[in-house]
Amino acid sequence: MNKPVIAPYKHHAIMCVGKSCGENMPLLKSLKAKVKEAGLDNDIRVNRAGCLGVCEQGPIMVVHPEGVWYYALTEEKLDRIVEEHFKQGEPVKEFSFHGV
Ligand code: FES
Repeated sequence: MNKPVIAPYKHHAIMCVGKSCGENMPLLKSLKAKVKEAGLDNDIRVNRAGCLGVCEQGPIMVVHPEGVWYYALTEEKLDRIVEEHFKQGEPVKEFSFHGV
């Protein structure tokens, strides 16, 4: 059997860095730094996407396995998402499209 090439992450966060979301590489880098700072880099996989198809309220990030869609992201929102969703397992309902 082949050795796994990826860890069994608890969450997979995919942040849009597309044009309509402001091409927000700084926000993506900031999220990666916050995850690492929180000691969660073995639990949370962070990737980028070119466009997630819901551009009007960007920056957008979807987090699996729950399928929580966060919108209009800011540094302050990322702080709470890292603390509450990634650390404590409770999605930040007020920041998501569907309130889940
Ligand atoms: S450019 Fe971000 S959702 Fe489309």
